[in-house]
Amino acid sequence: PVGAQQWVPPEPRSIEQLKSAAGGCEGCELHADATQTVFGRGAADARVVLVGEQPGDVEDQKGLPFVGPAGRLLREAVDDAGLDASDVYITNAVKHFRFERRGNRRIHQNPGPAHITACRPWLVAEFSLLKPELVVILGATAGRALLGPSFRVTQQRGRLMPWPASAQHPGDFPVAEIHALATIHPSAVLRADNREVAYGGLVDDLKIAAAAVS
Ligand code: URA
Ligand code: SF4
Repeated sequence: PVGAQQWVPPEPRSIEQLKSAAGGCEGCELHADATQTVFGRGAADARVVLVGEQPGDVEDQKGLPFVGPAGRLLREAVDDAGLDASDVYITNAVKHFRFERRGNRRIHQNPGPAHITACRPWLVAEFSLLKPELVVILGATAGRALLGPSFRVTQQRGRLMPWPASAQHPGDFPVAEIHALATIHPSAVLRADNREVAYGGLVDDLKIAAAAVS
């Protein structure tokens, strides 16, 4: 894929301008089958940015991130952790829904490394505007997009860390003051054998995020 860079408007720019430009992105083939681009959502002065994987079926239809079942669970967890929803901007590593058609159904497929790389300029542009204090990484795909291929959610979750130098690329994330915190993806809670325990773990991790910005 050619990547999203040529669709990213030059600075100065607003989140609204980024969102509108991303609506026309053809940086990888995912735009062809998906309904629409699903850009990030939240206040421009949010101190915490939550990064998920890619929009799901419901998000693809509504054009908004985390508005399906995983999104409901995530919002509840944000609330239970004491994070102020107005202080949170929610986005995804990949902005189009990747799926496989089976009959009338659309089955979620994980984005590949090429999609993550192609879509990364949007995430970088969001970060450069928002200048978050803390980035919460939801699950393995977001972790690999932001921190690199050696990221392991089971090992790195729940620990507040300075933005790792290994995750920096020239001209990439403006990371000077950013902290990162990884946790599980809310979809993993929905799939867990013991949902209550998994949900409690997600909330505990988000409490560390809440404490870090309070
Ligand atoms: N899962 C994600 O990672 N992002 C969404 O927006 C919805 C579900
Ligand atoms: Fe562009 Fe990202 Fe959509 Fe690919 S997934 S077309 S890079 S917005």
